[in-house]
Amino acid sequence: MTGWQVRPERPEDFDAIRQVLVAAFGDDEVADGVDRIRASWTYRPATALVAVSGDEVVGCVMIDGCTLTGDAGERPAAMLTPLAVSPGHQRRGIGAALVRAALAGAEQAGEPLVVLEGSPKYYGSLGFRPARDHGIEMRLPDWAPPEAAQVYLLPAYDPADPTLRGTVGYPPVYG
Ligand SMILES: CC(C)(COP(=O)(O)OP(=O)(O)OC[C@H]1O[C@@H](n2cnc3c(N)ncnc32)[C@H](O)[C@@H]1OP(=O)(O)O)[C@@H](O)C(=O)NCCC(=O)NCCS
Repeated sequence: MTGWQVRPERPEDFDAIRQVLVAAFGDDEVADGVDRIRASWTYRPATALVAVSGDEVVGCVMIDGCTLTGDAGERPAAMLTPLAVSPGHQRRGIGAALVRAALAGAEQAGEPLVVLEGSPKYYGSLGFRPARDHGIEMRLPDWAPPEAAQVYLLPAYDPADPTLRGTVGYPPVYG
């Protein structure tokens, strides 16, 4: 039994989610990006989740729409961004629970894969693998190692499907 639960976000959570994002990332940039996602086609409310402890929002995750463009053309795909847990609630498994719940939602929606940019150590422990090994490229910031580009393969993934290889076009989370 844990003291928190994961559920889809609701409009009345948006201010509290902003506070979690600002506290976790240290500035408004990602919170502003979440507002842009919610206003764009990339917003997927079924995989925009919060962790709540009592009435308090203590974490959030989003799996958004993105694009994958390769030799076979452009197709929609799914990207996990952002993930945040309030500093006072970290290291209790809330981040992992949010990721697992969001992946379950993406699987239910029939997604073949979920890409992300993040720590290979953290996300590798949750089943993510280097994106490049599966023919997926991401334009990373200069400071990020190539292994930061990762992918989680869901049951609908077909390695023979050429539309599942290419370069990721990001949702509008960063500027
Ligand atoms: C990353 C984050 C969401 C993890 O949330 P959490 O609830 O603490 O995660 P969990 O409890 O599931 O896992 C905690 C473990 O992950 C590790 N971890 C957290 N962030 C990590 C990172 N960037 N790289 C490697 N390991 C990391 C912790 O050290 C901890 O391991 P330990 O207990 O063995 O020391 C949280 O630390 C956070 O909000 N960070 C700031 C925002 C951020 O970086 N988001 C991710 C962007 S990709």
